[in-house]
Amino acid sequence: MTLYKKDLISINDLSRDDIKKIFEVTDLLRENIRKGRNLLKGFVLTNAFFEPSTRTRLSFESAMLRLGGSVISFSSVEAISIAKGESFVDTIRMLDAYSDIIVVRHKYEGAAKLAAEISEAPVINAGDGRNQHPTQTLVDLYTIVKKFGKIDGLNIGLFGDLKYARTANSLLQGLAIFNPSKIFLISPPTLKIRKEIRDLLNLKGIKFEEHDDVSEVISELDVLYVLRIQRERFSDPLEYEKVKGSYRVTLDLLKDVKDDFIIMHPLPRVDEIDYKVDGTKYAYYFKQAKYGIPIRMALLTLILLGEEVL
Ligand code: NCD
Repeated sequence: MTLYKKDLISINDLSRDDIKKIFEVTDLLRENIRKGRNLLKGFVLTNAFFEPSTRTRLSFESAMLRLGGSVISFSSVEAISIAKGESFVDTIRMLDAYSDIIVVRHKYEGAAKLAAEISEAPVINAGDGRNQHPTQTLVDLYTIVKKFGKIDGLNIGLFGDLKYARTANSLLQGLAIFNPSKIFLISPPTLKIRKEIRDLLNLKGIKFEEHDDVSEVISELDVLYVLRIQRERFSDPLEYEKVKGSYRVTLDLLKDVKDDFIIMHPLPRVDEIDYKVDGTKYAYYFKQAKYGIPIRMALLTLILLGEEVL
């Protein structure tokens, strides 16, 4: 399938071949940054962020600017006419008229899908509630491929708030496009993956185990993907108070890890990885965040111009 003029709402919109193509273009743009310089001159991207963001919004912006395109944006609901009572649907209609591609982040699941139904311009989901965050998943998969040369055959642990983190949900579905050896789902008992995700993994034939204690399995892992507690998605503040600070990656935990082992994190970090871990060779999260630019450059190029231009 070509990505030209397509929306990207879920990681499941992509095939293994699409992902391979995105990674090839990412490599190309990384090797020869000049090649991208004016590719998207004259195109306008809207960053429509109804929820907070640092990396996703700014890396889309940086990616578009590096390709010679322009960006218009808002980053809070208070700043736009939604605050005056305008509907989401009317807002998206306007953005469609003002730009060539719309990047949407929203606290509600399904918001990006709805935006894509309204907009003629392609829509990229930059996170919808606890549901999906496909461009983060591309960054995550790319980071693993750059380190290990593959995803197939690896032991991958996801650690932390698996109940509310959309990056976990998205990554699990992204991993299911490949053939990891085994997935370890490690979380406090109240933050386990939701039933529908468990069912989906079973349906796709992915081998997985659920654990409470990361120290039991860490020596088996190639990758540990850590997640912060998604405080803003708890409906009951008491539920949050009970798990707050209940897990943490410390130097002590890393005594028996494999030599090639890496720690990833979509960021922002709160307190779930000790700052002392940053200085170890296992810390991959800042490198991972840097890949956010070339991955998004590749994606914007493929969606707005198609692959023929490269
Ligand atoms: C994530 C998100 O917004 O889902 N952030 C990001 O885009 N890197 C992760 C998080 O907020 O925990």
